[in-house]
Parts: sequence; C-alpha cells; structure tokens
Amino acid sequence: MITTQEIQQIREQIRTWRTKGETIAFVPTMGNLHLGHITLIKEAVKRADHVVASIFVNPMQFGANEDLDAYPRTLEADKLALSDAGAELLFTPTPEIIYPKGMEQQTYVEVPKIGDQLCGASRPGHFRGVATVVCKLFNIVQPDIALFGRKDFQQLMIIKTMVEDLSLPIEIVGIDTIREASGLAMSSRNGYLSETQKSQAAVLKQTMDQISNAVKQGASLDLAIENGKQALIDSGFTPDYLELRNAKDLSFVTDEQGELVILAAAYMGNTRLIDNLCFTR
Ligand code: PAF
Repeated sequence: MITTQEIQQIREQIRTWRTKGETIAFVPTMGNLHLGHITLIKEAVKRADHVVASIFVNPMQFGANEDLDAYPRTLEADKLALSDAGAELLFTPTPEIIYPKGMEQQTYVEVPKIGDQLCGASRPGHFRGVATVVCKLFNIVQPDIALFGRKDFQQLMIIKTMVEDLSLPIEIVGIDTIREASGLAMSSRNGYLSETQKSQAAVLKQTMDQISNAVKQGASLDLAIENGKQALIDSGFTPDYLELRNAKDLSFVTDEQGELVILAAAYMGNTRLIDNLCFTR
C-alpha cells in the first residue's frame, strides 16, 4: 500500500488507474480503525478495481470543547489493517495540507435543514466540517464510489444530499453497523470507556430494540420514547437526544406507515455515543 501526505501523488496514482479504465472506491476515515472500518474496506474491494482510504482527524468537525487533541491516533496499526484488508493507496494529510489558509478562510459546504438538527443542533458546526472535508477529499481522490457506515446515519444522509445537490459523480454506499457481541456499535470512541461503562453502554441498542418493538405493537410513540429515555438514565447514560423520525428524510413522524429510524445520542461518563435503528411500522 502506498501511503502519502501529498495531494499530487494521490492525483498521479488515480490518473494512472483511470488511464487504464479502472474504477476507484474510497473510504474516508479519521483512523483508529476498528472492524467497522475494515468492513468498509472489504466491501470497497468487492465494488471497484482499486481502494483508496484516507486518515485525517479533521479539526473542522470538532467543537471547541470536544476531543480533537485526545482523539486516538494509531497510524502504524491502521496502515497494517488497511493493507491487509486490500486498500492500495492511503492519504494521510496534515491540517496544513487540507486547510492551507487556516480554517477561518476556508470555503465551506453546508447542508441546510438535515444538518441543523439532532447532532447538528448539539454540535454546531460539526456537519459543516464533515461536509467540507468530505467534499475536498472527493475532489482530491475523485472516486467512482465512496463507502460510509450507517452508524453515522445523519452524516450519511448529509453526504448523500451534498453529492446530489452539488452534482458530484460519486455513488454513496451505506454499510450496516458492526456491533460487539453485546450489541454496542463499534466506534473509535468506545476506547474511552471502562469495561464497566462498556457493558452499561450495551443498553443503548437494547433500548432502541425495545422502542421499535413497542411501536410495532402499537404503543404511543411519545410513551415509547419516554420509556426509552428513562431506561438509558437508569443504566447510567445522560441522553442528549432519543428521537423517532422518518428514515427517508429525518422529518417528524406522522401517522403514515413507512420506514422509521430511532436516533440516539447519549453520554456514558464523558463519552458521547451515537447509534440508530431503522424499522418499518
Ligand atoms: O465518520 C468519520 O470518520 C468522519 O466524519 C469522516 C467522514 C471521515 C469525515 O472526517
């Protein structure tokens, strides 16, 4: 696997592959890779001739009081895992390469409405940072397809919307969440949890299962959510939000049938975890 910080080297390699008519899949990451990321790479291998990954802990998507400095950086282990999984090219830029004029003077991409709610409301500026860096990475790598985990449900929807709105010729593929045996969704932030917190955190998935079962059996949506919030509090979480929305567009649920999504963000100690569950009523 070729690893480079240079945009020019990425462009040259992509050009070499393109000249031969070969296709490119891209998996952007912030590193500290776990089985969820590796699953994305393996899916990418099945869908294109070449797989490009990036590792960039994007300062623009972290708020002032968030964990940018503490975010785990494990480049050497990540490189091994990526190359074992089949990635051929790894882009590891620095903030100076991505934001040469600094973040204040950087042109940005913002996806309104979908990006303003849920995690967007709790973490102002977060999705602007995500959309901006993903747009830049797409312009550097120019892939045919890009793969993202469904754990970040709102992020995936924002990226799909951005690609559609800006007419980017890239297919966006969402891949199912990979979970621990306990049901806890894999996340780099799980590394912040103690063993006790990890087992308590498994209640997040159990709570979403209970809500979806209750709703399928005809329970009131508000009551199911209220009970869910209480279950999270009882097991040591401080909920940020727990909401039921239409999976298609994140709009509020009315009485119609259709695919719904439970979206959850909750703190276990200082660690903010997110998860979601789609189901049909
Ligand atoms: O999901 C992530 O790891 C990040 O938000 C992403 C998409 C790599 C952008 O920095």
